[in-house]
Amino acid sequence: MSTSAAVNPFASAKADLHEVLANLRRDRPVMEMTLPTGATAWLVTRYEDAQRALTDPKLGKTTSAGGFSYRDMVPPDVASAVSRHMLTINPPDHTRIRRLVSGAFTARRVAAFRPRIEELSERLLDEMEGSDRLDLIDSFAFPLPIQVLCELLGVPSEDQASFRRWSDAIVTGGVNPAGLPPALIAIVAYIRELLAAKRERPADDLLSGLIEARDNDDRLTDDELISMVYLFLIAGHETTVNLIGNGTLLLLAEPERWARVVAEPELIPNAVEELLRYEGPVQSSTFRTAMAPTEIGGQAIPEGAFVLVSLLSANRDGDRFANADQLDLDRPVTPNLAFGHGIHYCLGAPLARLEGQIAFHALTRRFPKMRLAVPVEEIAWRPGMLLRGLTALPVIPG
Ligand code: HEM
Repeated sequence: MSTSAAVNPFASAKADLHEVLANLRRDRPVMEMTLPTGATAWLVTRYEDAQRALTDPKLGKTTSAGGFSYRDMVPPDVASAVSRHMLTINPPDHTRIRRLVSGAFTARRVAAFRPRIEELSERLLDEMEGSDRLDLIDSFAFPLPIQVLCELLGVPSEDQASFRRWSDAIVTGGVNPAGLPPALIAIVAYIRELLAAKRERPADDLLSGLIEARDNDDRLTDDELISMVYLFLIAGHETTVNLIGNGTLLLLAEPERWARVVAEPELIPNAVEELLRYEGPVQSSTFRTAMAPTEIGGQAIPEGAFVLVSLLSANRDGDRFANADQLDLDRPVTPNLAFGHGIHYCLGAPLARLEGQIAFHALTRRFPKMRLAVPVEEIAWRPGMLLRGLTALPVIPG
């Protein structure tokens, strides 16, 4: 693969990310670029190409992607305990694991969790009551999803602080790589112990459900179980933080918009879909490796090449969505790519939607006068091109 023409279109960009992506969609919709690791990748930015790439069986998953491998940073047993999950494997292994996990992570389990998520959310909002100014990410958007994940999995309350600390280190591993190996080692050791405890005393939680999950004689192995818990953390935590954070920013950015949702809470389910489309939590962390030569939008992709699909860009493609750059809470729902597409379509989408809806209901009901504490231009996005989220969201609860 030639590297001479490769650049990173985001590296020196002072322009708004969406402007960069719009230019790429227009001029170089399948572009070879250099990643911060030094590896090269093909970046896909148009909706139709993105959708095709995500269903192309020649584009698969591997355990080391784009120059990043756990084997370079932790002992082999730890690396293998976090590498046997759905986002590192292909059919038929993927089909088998997804079927087993889906049998335990059911719509019924998610729906039954609603009152508990509401309670956790109200409790966090109680703590915000009376503050003149606070960071909504710190106070609400960050803690809520990790508390939900801990309770769902069955992490005992006395362990949740450590679990959250390791999860923080893993979530921020892209910006602070030094914190990653010790957190991985600690969390794998912890999950091993938790598995042993759940085997001895099964409870009505997802981890016990995953241990019990069977498909004829088939069950998940220990490495697969540990990897699954790990995947829930990396796939389900920061993404949901970003849904709540980005969504609240967009609703507050125009005070009439916030007022409208306060007055018409029935808009919220539709609003969540539009917020996911307009400023979704995942920029381009949907990576694939070409298992055989293939083609995307007329561009030949050689075997072994690394491909990044920008969901954020695809969801702003004017060929798919009318007035794509307008946030329109009344937009009729048209399926978008925020949760991916094809066999790896987000398994946690029903939970994420539920959390988003509960969060926006609770925030608008409890804080109808909330406003941004700084001009919208001063609110910063986190660096990195994989996810799309805020560093902080200063608000005056009102
Ligand atoms: C996969 C987005 C929340 C669990 C994915 C993928 C995307 C995504 C784009 C596909 C990745 C790919 O194709 O490479 C999101 C967004 C969320 C969210 C935007 C929040 C708004 C969650 C939650 C959980 C979760 C809360 C679990 C509790 C998973 C799992 C997969 C996945 C297990 C892998 C599925 C597979 O490979 O078959 N997610 N996710 N996600 N997500 Fe989510």
